[in-house]
Amino acid sequence: MSISMRIVLLGAPGSGKGTQSQRLVEAYRIPQVSTGDLLRDAVARKTELGLRAKVAMDAGKLVEDAIVLGMIRERLSRPDAARGFILDGFPRNIAQAQALSALLAELGTPLDAVVLLSVDTGVLFKRLSGRRICEECGRVFNIYTSPAGSPPHCDRCGDKPRLIQRLDDKEEVIAKRLEVYEAQTKPLVEHYRAAGLLRVIDADTDVDRVFAALTAAVGAPRT
Ligand code: AP5
Repeated sequence: MSISMRIVLLGAPGSGKGTQSQRLVEAYRIPQVSTGDLLRDAVARKTELGLRAKVAMDAGKLVEDAIVLGMIRERLSRPDAARGFILDGFPRNIAQAQALSALLAELGTPLDAVVLLSVDTGVLFKRLSGRRICEECGRVFNIYTSPAGSPPHCDRCGDKPRLIQRLDDKEEVIAKRLEVYEAQTKPLVEHYRAAGLLRVIDADTDVDRVFAALTAAVGAPRT
């Protein structure tokens, strides 16, 4: 089936953007484009950009726009993004939103929707401090809400997965990330509301219900 769907998932750290993106990838067969993942990959490969980004990421601050925009431009020009994409963690401020809009106008591929995953701040802290990730495949677990079991098991990688905690999921860095979200990213809610693209869903419920609300908000893939 040929589809076209270009969406932005907007929401605070821990609101479930990554979790829901992975489900959308399966349902809509379009790629997840996560600037956080792209940056973590650059950090792991110790590229020059990665080393510059790491300082900001470890402190819970935004990486400079030029680095992120270069990554997005390159990623969205790949063939697998031609029929659509899920932007997870981008844009993150008004300047990035304006740059995205200019890039998509250039490509002739406007956004279909921006979905805000709405969650109370108190819930976010617990979700982030409880997050664990399978080092092998990147699958996300949570010691409170979706534990890997006892003994731990990953559906994709089998028994004895190595579960790691992100460096920026330490309490002091979580606090900074939430502060940065309020100051720099939250203004995008009004920006996209004014553009007529915003949909808001309650993401403070279980993962299946959030996914049902999300697919209802963006609609079935266009053929
Ligand atoms: P990034 O990787 O984008 O992190 P984030 O936005 O802080 O978001 P998270 O990945 O922490 O949370 P999420 O919303 O994806 O939640 P998840 O689904 O994992 O960015 C990291 C850093 O990179 C930034 O701080 C910045 O330095 C830099 N960066 C990235 N993009 C940038 C940009 N555009 N510009 C500049 N800098 C940028 O879920 C969290 C936990 O909750 C999991 O354990 C999960 O299992 C659990 N969970 C999820 N949904 C539910 C649910 N419904 N119920 C119960 N538990 C749930």
